[in-house]
Order: sequence, then C-alpha cells, then structure tokens
Amino acid sequence: MVTIISGTNRPSSNTLKVAKYYQNQLSKKGLETRLLDLQDLPPTLITTDLYGKKSEAFEKIQQLITATEKFLFVIPEYNGSFPGVLKTFIDTCAFPESFYDKKACLVGISSGKYGNIRGIDHFNGVCAYLHLNVMPLRIHISHIKTELDENQEFFKEDTLKFVGQQLEKFIAY
Ligand SMILES: Cc1cc2nc3c(=O)[nH]c(=O)nc-3n(C[C@H](O)[C@H](O)[C@H](O)COP(=O)(O)O)c2cc1C
Repeated sequence: MVTIISGTNRPSSNTLKVAKYYQNQLSKKGLETRLLDLQDLPPTLITTDLYGKKSEAFEKIQQLITATEKFLFVIPEYNGSFPGVLKTFIDTCAFPESFYDKKACLVGISSGKYGNIRGIDHFNGVCAYLHLNVMPLRIHISHIKTELDENQEFFKEDTLKFVGQQLEKFIAY
C-alpha cells in the first residue's frame, strides 16, 4: 500500500492541496494511493493516543500506517522546520513497525523563499532514526501561493518538470 501524508492539520492548508495534486497525478500514472490528512487525527490525540494508549479512532490510522510500505510526505515549513503535529503523529505511531525498513518520499512547501529546506532536513533526520529510507530526490516548492492555479494544480514549467521527475522516481522506488 502507498500512502500520502498531508503533514499539517491546519484547515484550508496548501499542503492538503499539494497532497491531493500528487495523489491525482499518481492515479493518472496508474498508482492508487491512500491519503492521510492530519486534520483527521483524533482531536484528543495527546491525551488518548500517545505513549502506548490507543483510541479506536487512532487504531484505524495505525492499521493504515502498518499496512503501508511506501509513504509520500508533503510537509509545510512552520517556524523554520516541519510542523509539531507531524512529530506528534510520528511519536504516536507504534515503534518500530510503523516505518522501519519502509520507503518515503519528501516534498517541502513554504510561502517563503526556501521551500522548507531546513524542515525537510530535520524530518530526514527523524526518518534516519526510524530506518525509513528516504528517496534521494526531495522537492522544495517555495512561494506556494503563486504555484497553484484555480484548479489547485501546478502550472509553471520548472515545477511541472521537477514534480514530474519525482513522481516517476517515486513509482519506481
Ligand atoms: C505556524 C506557522 C508557521 C509558519 N512558518 C513559516 C516559516 O518559517 N517559513 C515560511 O516560509 N512560511 C511559514 N509559514 C507559512 C506556510 O509555509 C504557508 O502557510 C504555506 O501555505 C504552507 O503551509 P500550509 O500548508 O499550512 O498552507 C508558517 C505558517 C504557519 C501556520
């Protein structure tokens, strides 16, 4: 199973738009994926699911993660790093079986000019600890508000080229 993780729970996030874009493009290329939107985490997560306890709502998410062999994370830049809710989600997932020896592809986005380079590096360190093998081609999309058209699709030549390369490599990874 392949799962795309939209790495924030912020309502109306650009991250979710990009995650859906990747899902549609992968579907057009014949790869069906699941999409986990961190808005769907239980609102009580930090009291009901961290440190061994598991609610019924999170158990469904855990089953999805356990069944996934390949992940694609879309990760926004928040205060020069990846969002805290993404780390809380990772800390909630069962260790090591959730991510150990599996594969991941990383996409960074930001409204500023760095495309979450630093947050993707920080998250890459977490992946290394988890033995989650990150695909070498990581994409950084800066100025995200200028990147999506009215259909929430990328349209700039350079972006289409690099995202297209990443999609092909992800399918083959
Ligand atoms: C809590 C928070 C912190 C942010 N920090 C940064 C930042 O450090 N650098 C940056 O370029 N954009 C920053 N942004 C803007 C996001 O990159 C921007 O909202 C972009 O659309 C991706 O986030 P989104 O998926 O929540 O929309 C921040 C946004 C939030 C909500």
